[in-house]
Amino acid sequence: MYSAYRGLLAPLLSIYIAALCLLAPGNAYQAISDATLESLPRPNEDFDIHNGAILSPILRTRVSGTPGSTAVLNHFADFFRTSLPNWKIEFQNSTSKTPVSNGKEVPFVNFIASRDPPWAAAGDVGRLTLVAHYDSKYEPEGFIGAIDSAAPCAMIMHAMRSIDTALTKKWEDMRAQGRTNPLDEQKGIQVFFLDGEEAFKTWSDTDSLYGARSLAEQWDSEVNPAMSAYKTPLSSISLFVLLDLLGSKNPTIQSFFPTTHWAYKKLAALEHRLRGLKQFKSSGDSGDASSRAWFPHASKNEHEIPHFSSIQDDHIPFMKRGVEILHVIDAGPHGFPAVWHRMEDDGEHLDMDTVEDWSLLFTAFAAEWMELEGFMPGAETTPGKNKRSGSYQAKTEL
Ligand SMILES: *[C@@H]1O[C@H](CO)[C@@H](O)[C@H](O)[C@H]1NC(C)=O
Ligand SMILES: [Zn+2]
Repeated sequence: MYSAYRGLLAPLLSIYIAALCLLAPGNAYQAISDATLESLPRPNEDFDIHNGAILSPILRTRVSGTPGSTAVLNHFADFFRTSLPNWKIEFQNSTSKTPVSNGKEVPFVNFIASRDPPWAAAGDVGRLTLVAHYDSKYEPEGFIGAIDSAAPCAMIMHAMRSIDTALTKKWEDMRAQGRTNPLDEQKGIQVFFLDGEEAFKTWSDTDSLYGARSLAEQWDSEVNPAMSAYKTPLSSISLFVLLDLLGSKNPTIQSFFPTTHWAYKKLAALEHRLRGLKQFKSSGDSGDASSRAWFPHASKNEHEIPHFSSIQDDHIPFMKRGVEILHVIDAGPHGFPAVWHRMEDDGEHLDMDTVEDWSLLFTAFAAEWMELEGFMPGAETTPGKNKRSGSYQAKTEL
């Protein structure tokens, strides 16, 4: 038997190696250029904490099941419908009792926005998935949660707005070239703004992650049409990038998972390049443009990163079901940022240079993942041209 199969071994091996390469797109995808990095739009006044069109509507109490939560949800829906009309918007709803709901069911609403290549069947698209929670803590009363996670939601909104036109151009270009073979890898992108991350009373398996648990369970059980490239909506998440506790000065982002350490390194490399190109307003920890201030594990390989006890967060229900996770959370040797779960975690305590820089970094990461080099504004930008992005006009109706 063995000898009869020998002739097959070499071609089988090469197929196997090709399949492995497909599984690790990060090792192959092309870096975006300095010109593109130098032309990324900054959020500017849209991140003003008092009246900025993107951030200020999120800086309010938004406890699950309260009018504040609905107002923020409407803000997300309004932003996508107005600024990003090519995106598909969905809500994923569930209810649960909580330790403070006196036996009543509290509604939890996850917001999902996605964009796929226009010719692709939904079940064939693997999606880069950017995630933050939008609920705020029940206690202390009046808690805002600016780093936790109003600012991360705003960073994602700015990043998606900043790549949207380039996505359109890239896909038009692919169509013009006839590169729409359904058997090719189809790359899409999606955003989750999850509800009910916070515990109402004391963190436990049942009092926390209400929205994430419901979404992961539902998407794991739904099945895509037969012959789809991905069996379930859950398995079409190519990378789950979770942003949490971002917006304080000098963050420390550890690499938690060997299988996504390559993506961590991509993010770190972009931070390094953006700093070197003087595109960051925040100074790195050491004030040295060559340091990788935010990503201390950038120079390690995947076998050298520490084995931390994992941090409980919205990725857990997805990770349990096999989704690949990049957890971008400010958790250094001294723990979470000083304002964490305190009344001080409000707009005034954000380090706005850092918040803006994060939004550029995630723009660059998404642009690189979606292979948008040549389609981002850089190529057309003339030196000295105003790089401000147009302000997004908020509508008042739903
Ligand atoms: C989920 O809840 C939202 C907000 O309350 C509502 O607009 C939407 O129709 C609900 N979706 C479903 C599928 O029930
Ligand atoms: Zn929190």
